[in-house]
Amino acid sequence: MNIYDTINNRVSIRAYKKDKIDLEIVKKVVEAACTAPSWGNKQCWRFIIVNSRVEKNLIGKAAGQPLIAQACMDAPYVIVVCANPKESGVKNGIEYYTFDCALAMENLVLSATEEGLSTCIVGWFDEKVVKGVLNIPENIRVVAFTPLGYACDVPKHSTRKKPEQIIYYNTWDKNSHEEKQ
Ligand SMILES: Cc1cc2nc3c(=O)[nH]c(=O)nc-3n(C[C@H](O)[C@H](O)[C@H](O)COP(=O)(O)O)c2cc1C
Repeated sequence: MNIYDTINNRVSIRAYKKDKIDLEIVKKVVEAACTAPSWGNKQCWRFIIVNSRVEKNLIGKAAGQPLIAQACMDAPYVIVVCANPKESGVKNGIEYYTFDCALAMENLVLSATEEGLSTCIVGWFDEKVVKGVLNIPENIRVVAFTPLGYACDVPKHSTRKKPEQIIYYNTWDKNSHEEKQ
């Protein structure tokens, strides 16, 4: 696949087979996440690779979403993305540790797609519960997690806004559809 195929093939999957994944492939996609750009190259992120059944189940339940709970139970891995906010920056009120982690997560989900694996970024969960389950220190934030495994079904793609609705040229003007020279 070229990068555009990979981007277009990625889709959030909420139903997984119980098939195992070679740990070397899991490491490969998590290491791809570690190559993302970050604030001052500080790499504030930390990744927890979870394959213990009990912990996977508890993390899935912490999302309070039945499909995600089942996904974390069935997928052989859950990858948790954490950050030390002090290793990133704040500018214009924007806390860039979440941005850093998002870039890392995007690398991870695209690399997983390239390997024929599926993911679903989960941002809605009880952070306190996840921190307790994984023994994560007080000063570290849990930004997101994803199940990692093989999809049950052919993925269904969700729709996107049309480019002309969201891409402007030269100024904030949704009627400016053409690039001016
Ligand atoms: C920051 C973030 C948080 C998300 N949290 C959840 C979540 O808690 N539960 C869930 O089922 N999907 C979650 N998603 C997945 C989105 O619902 C999904 O990306 C979106 O609907 C587009 O679908 P697609 O990923 O299949 O293209 C999250 C995605 C992002 C980027």
